Amino acid sequence: MVTWVKLFSNASEASARLLHGRPQLCVLHGHRVCLVRFGSNFYAVQDSCSHNGESLSKGTVNHLGEIICPWHNYCFSLETGRELHNRSADLKIYPVKADDSGFYVGIF
Ligand code: FES
Repeated sequence: MVTWVKLFSNASEASARLLHGRPQLCVLHGHRVCLVRFGSNFYAVQDSCSHNGESLSKGTVNHLGEIICPWHNYCFSLETGRELHNRSADLKIYPVKADDSGFYVGIF
């Protein structure tokens, strides 16, 4: 079951508060989530790198919108969670939604 956690009052506030391509750590109901805005898209993935556990929020996002772990530079799709060269397990992806009532990340 998904629990929707409200982070912002709407998508505009989320866009203003999250810098483009700058990962942000959020701890939501005990889940460490890496939240990224890439242009007008928002992504939420597990913060812990599936290779060796480094915090992906300390990483960078490349021009293709992939997140790069700061430790060994593994590179993950923010859309699918897949590591570019299949070197480690897929990241858990959390759903993101925005409507008139707010901007939410779904935790499960
Ligand atoms: S811990 Fe992330 S690439 Fe090794």
